[in-house]
This record gives sequence, structure tokens and C-alpha cells, in this order.
Amino acid sequence: QTLMMAPSSSSSTAPSSLTQDDLKKIAAYKAVEFVRSGMVVGLGTGSTARHAVDRIAELLDQGELRDIIGIPTSSTTHEQALALGIPLSDLDSHPVVDLAIDGADEVDPFLNLVKGRGGSLLREKMVEGACKEFVVIVDESKLVDYLGGSLLAMPVEVIKFCWKFSAERLRALFEYAGCTTRLRLSGDGKEGEPYVTDNGNYVVDLYFKREIGDLSAASDAILRLAGVVEHGMFLKMASTVIVAGKHGVRVINR
Ligand code: 5RP
Repeated sequence: QTLMMAPSSSSSTAPSSLTQDDLKKIAAYKAVEFVRSGMVVGLGTGSTARHAVDRIAELLDQGELRDIIGIPTSSTTHEQALALGIPLSDLDSHPVVDLAIDGADEVDPFLNLVKGRGGSLLREKMVEGACKEFVVIVDESKLVDYLGGSLLAMPVEVIKFCWKFSAERLRALFEYAGCTTRLRLSGDGKEGEPYVTDNGNYVVDLYFKREIGDLSAASDAILRLAGVVEHGMFLKMASTVIVAGKHGVRVINR
């Protein structure tokens, strides 16, 4: 899997005996180099973004960064950043975010993303939609030829009310792409219970056998369904994608 269309990119080398978590950390640390003192910074969610939050806190402690305001994209990130002493705020008080750093589940050759396998897609889309620059951090396993191409889930946040109805309408919308749906279950000690987002909603995961095709049309069609709150396609939102692989780090700019 390679990024076939990289508008501009640069790379550097990294040792090849690295674990996937090492690669996530390398990408995260590289992204934090984009953070400047005084910035309002969107703090992403997930195992990759977690490294970026740790690094920002470390640089604040060392005095290498000052006056950062973090805007967390989930309650989990809020708790992490709070524990690390990063000053926090929200979009009500800071509607313009200078820079956001977050992971992704899939990155296509046009830098479109699938996000939300961690369940935080709605807040992530709000914060990352409000930022001037959105830096995405991934290890190379996240690169796909087309969204939905990893055969893993494409999440859609739906209200609890008649979620089966919403799931069926989503399935029917993408029948041409061999779509199947599954209600996401909690893996948090409550196995068998539906997973509930920070916003009190459910997540229906979509799986595709074939390409979705026109992503913008698909996005519009999903959002037109009453009962849907948000979906995990982040189209044309990333300014930069940092990809850490066994053979180096690539910084790809839109
Ligand atoms: C959470 C997300 C995450 O950024 C995405 O799932 C990637 O997670 P990880 O860095 O753990 O692979 O969108 O809602």
C-alpha cells in the first residue's frame, strides 16, 4: 500500500526494527514540531494522538513551549491532558484552533481519512473542522488505496432512538458497495452492551465489499438521514499527513 498521489512530500530515515507503537510515537513527535508557543491546539484521540499529547506536556514542562491552550477531542483526551497539566479550553471559548494533531484509521491517496474507530468522530470533526491546520499522524499500516479499503469499520454515530432503523437505511444506501452494518459494542468491561459515545449516542460500523465511489456524494447522503449525527469520513480536511514507516518518516502536504 502506498500513497500514490502526494502533492508534496519529504522523508527521512528511521531504523527498521521498530514496533507499530514506536512508529506512532515517531509520527506524533514529528507533528509536535509544528506546535508554536501561544497556539490553540486541537488534541486528538487514540493511541497515536496520545503520544502527541504526552510530548506537548513534556515540552511545556521543559519550558520549550509556552502558553498553549489545548482543545481535547474526547473525554479520554481531556482526562489525559488535564492529568499532564496542559491548560484546556473548548470551541465555545476558542472557536478558531491554530493547529490540530490527530491519528486516523485510513488515509487514501488524496489525504481523505476514515476516523472514529476510537469512537470520537463527532468531537474530532468539530475541532478539526475549526482548525487552520490539521496534521494527521499515522503509521504506514493506515494507508489504503480507497476509503473502506482496509475492510475495517467505517463508523457512523447515530442517535439511540430506533438505531436499527438507521442502520438499515445506511446499509440500503450502500447496497451497491456490498455494505453490511454492525452496532458497535463496548469493550470496556461491559461486553455485549452497546458502546456509547461521549455525546450519549451509538455507533453503527459500516463494512464495504466494494469501493464507495463518490465520497462527497456518500457523505451528503449519510448526513441527510434523520437519526445520523456524523460519520467518520474526513474529506479534504487534512493539511499534512505524517506517515511513519519502517524505512522512514514522510511528511506529505496537501
Ligand atoms: C478516534 C480516532 C483515532 O484517531 C483513530 O481511531 C486512530 O487511532 P489509533 O491512533 O489508536 O490507531 O479517530 O476516534
